[in-house]
Parts: sequence; C-alpha cells; structure tokens
Amino acid sequence: MIELHGVSKVFPAPNARSEPVMAVSKVDMTIEDGEFVTVVGPSGCGKTTILNMIAGFERPSQGDILLDGEPVLKPGPERAVVFQQPSLLPWMTVVDNIAFGLTLREGKRGVDRTRLDGTLETMGLKNFASHYPYQLSGGMQQRAAIARALITDPAILLMDEPFGALDAQTRSDMQRFLLLVWTELQHTVLFVTHDVEEAILLADRVLIMSPRPGRIAATIRITLARPRHWDMVMDRDFNDYKRKVMKVLRPQ
Ligand SMILES: Nc1ncnc2c1ncn2[C@@H]1O[C@H](COP(=O)(O)OP(=O)(O)OP(=O)(O)O)[C@@H](O)[C@H]1O
Ligand SMILES: [Mg+2]
Repeated sequence: MIELHGVSKVFPAPNARSEPVMAVSKVDMTIEDGEFVTVVGPSGCGKTTILNMIAGFERPSQGDILLDGEPVLKPGPERAVVFQQPSLLPWMTVVDNIAFGLTLREGKRGVDRTRLDGTLETMGLKNFASHYPYQLSGGMQQRAAIARALITDPAILLMDEPFGALDAQTRSDMQRFLLLVWTELQHTVLFVTHDVEEAILLADRVLIMSPRPGRIAATIRITLARPRHWDMVMDRDFNDYKRKVMKVLRPQ
C-alpha cells in the first residue's frame, strides 16, 4: 500500500555558517495493506521526517513515495496523522476538536452526531465532550487526538510517538486500546516510537533506523500471537526479539 523507493531528504542550511542537513538517506520500505509497522531509531535519525513525507507535508529531495501505486504529492483524507506534539486546538471543546477533521472536509452538516457519540464512547471521553483540552489529563488529550484521526475513517494511520509523554500505566492502557481499534478497523498503521518494547508489542514488523542520516538498518518480523498482552514482555520469545532489536540499535 505504501512504498518508499530510494527516499532521501536534505533540509537547507538555516544560515550561511551551517551546512544543509541530510535527515534521511536512501530509504526503501513497503507497508502492506492492514499491516502494523513500527519504526524505532535514535533521536534525530529522521523518523518524523519520513512520517511527514508519507503524510504529504514534506516532499522527498530524492526518490519516490507511492500510495497504492500513485505518487504522494500532498496530504489526503485517506491518511490521518497523530503528531508527536500535543495538537488539540485549545479554544475548542473535546467534541469540536474531534469533529474538526470532518467539518473541514464536509462542512458542519457532514458531522454525523451518532458517529461522534460512538467515538467519544469508545475513547472513554463521553463525559468530557464539552471540556476544553486544558481540563483533560495528558492521556485523555492524546485519546482525543487519536479520536480526531480515527473519526474520518482513514485507511492509513501515521502515529509519531503518540504515547511518549504518558506514564507506564496509561501507556499500556493506550497500547491495548490501539490494538483493539486496529483489530476492528483493519487500517494500516505506521507507528514511530523510542520504546523498543512498545515497538515489538504492537508490530507485525519493526523497522530499525540507523543514526542520521537515517537509513533502515534492519527489519524484524514479529510473529508473536495476537491478541497481544502487556505481560508478554516477560516471555522468552519477546526477550529474544528485544535482544535482536537492541543489537542493531547498539552494535558495540
Ligand atoms: N524543517 C526542518 N528544517 C531543517 N532541519 C530539519 C527540519 N525537520 C527536521 N530537521 C532535521 O532533520 C533531522 C531529523 O529530524 P526528525 O525530526 O525527523 O528526527 P526524529 O527521528 O523524529 O527525532 P526524535 O526521535 O527526536 O523525534 C534532525 O537533524 C532535524 O534537525
Ligand atoms: Mg520525531
């Protein structure tokens, strides 16, 4: 469904005294329809840059990105993004934030109230619909951001460290929740994370990136049974995967 062929990205030098930054170098990857792929790699290796190029916010300096065989030239409604930074609009209530994507696309009348209520319910935000973002916990804000992405029923979900700022318990709840949604909706997910355990627990495949300029250093297929549970991280198979990933991330 998503293909990257020899994709590189160079950012221009911010001023005369600095050099252009080669963020990503010759990346090839393919993501199948309905697949859950995670990307791990050191800070600054170009993970967000890759996500932004697939989302259509940035163009590659070299190479091609194809979506169902067609080149990606701009953002589109079949791709929803959950950003690394909190991204709810502070002056809108939770329900308005979630409906925002639909309103943009289809106007106010396009917003199906039943669907909106259903999404609020699934996300455990029903009693917070008319709260403002500052009145929510971090985990709830992130759930609202995910709800906003899911309500447009995207074929592809691009997630950039969505649970990075959450405590271990909330993070684990969110992982379980995301897997439930994914099993039900069968969309394709590309999920960036720093956390090796999270990368393995969620994925069909883990892509491991090298330091900048980022390349795909290794791909590891995860064949652990689904549904996955957090306590699998203590199993031997899981630790074997963890060792494999760590070996690529820290070769010495
Ligand atoms: N718009 C931009 N202009 C100039 N340089 C940029 C821009 N966006 C990213 N970069 C540079 O590209 C490199 C890769 O950045 P990117 O945000 O993709 O890394 P990352 O892997 O997502 O890191 P992190 O794990 O810290 O989020 C960095 O050196 C960054 O400074
Ligand atoms: Mg990033």
